[in-house]
Amino acid sequence: MAESDWRRVDDYIRDRLIPADPALDAAQTAAAAAGLPAIEVSPTQGKLLQLLALIAGARRILEIGTLAGYSTIWLARGLAPGGRLVTLEADPHHAAVARSNLAAAGLADVVEVREGPALDSLLGLEGPFDLVFIDADKRNNPNYLDWALRLSRPGTVIVCDNVVRRGRITDPENAEGDVTGTRALFDRMAAEPRLDATALQTVGAKGWDGFVLAVVR
Ligand code: SAH
Ligand code: DHB
Ligand code: MG
Repeated sequence: MAESDWRRVDDYIRDRLIPADPALDAAQTAAAAAGLPAIEVSPTQGKLLQLLALIAGARRILEIGTLAGYSTIWLARGLAPGGRLVTLEADPHHAAVARSNLAAAGLADVVEVREGPALDSLLGLEGPFDLVFIDADKRNNPNYLDWALRLSRPGTVIVCDNVVRRGRITDPENAEGDVTGTRALFDRMAAEPRLDATALQTVGAKGWDGFVLAVVR
């Protein structure tokens, strides 16, 4: 099996289940034009985020790591009527592109983009959130998990992206900050009685990776 097979099947699923969406397409085009890295979730993953928000009946969503707002749009489309989303982004250029994309998607009044290092912004937030999506600097994953718990209630859904990274997570030679940060996330989840968690590996248009899905007891 090769990456081209994963992509072909991902495209097959997208073509049948995920209709082209002008706002999401425009957000990707604007992100590329602005020179942002193409590290947003794939369409099939974005749709999963929307479905999780819908299943949770989410009225308040917190996202850590906005980039151009692509995953933000998916999550915001899963909000219950009248719901709100706060997304945290350290890079001013990314935040500006995201605000423009969110406005173009008609979500300017639904989503607040808070600019600055997430660990600073988190100090000023009040919970509880119904769903937290962690997708920023991976070295801080254990800190973001602590914050997600602090800003949660029983039933809060926590999703953390990119926890497999082509299997680097289990490579004993690998001591990069993002890998050690994600290992620390797993250790903390394992020791946390308030969480029921699993992680799923994914293959597709974004290669081989995976995500954590957890629920607060
Ligand atoms: N969730 C997005 C992708 C996010 S990429 C999507 O799927 O569409 C990760 C983002 O986290 C980048 O935009 C990066 O600038 C941001 N980031 C990195 N370190 C951060 C920090 N300490 N605080 C807030 N954002 C951070
Ligand atoms: C990277 C970050 C992401 O959030 C992602 O989904 C893929 C890659 C990165 O920093 O390389
Ligand atoms: Mg990601």
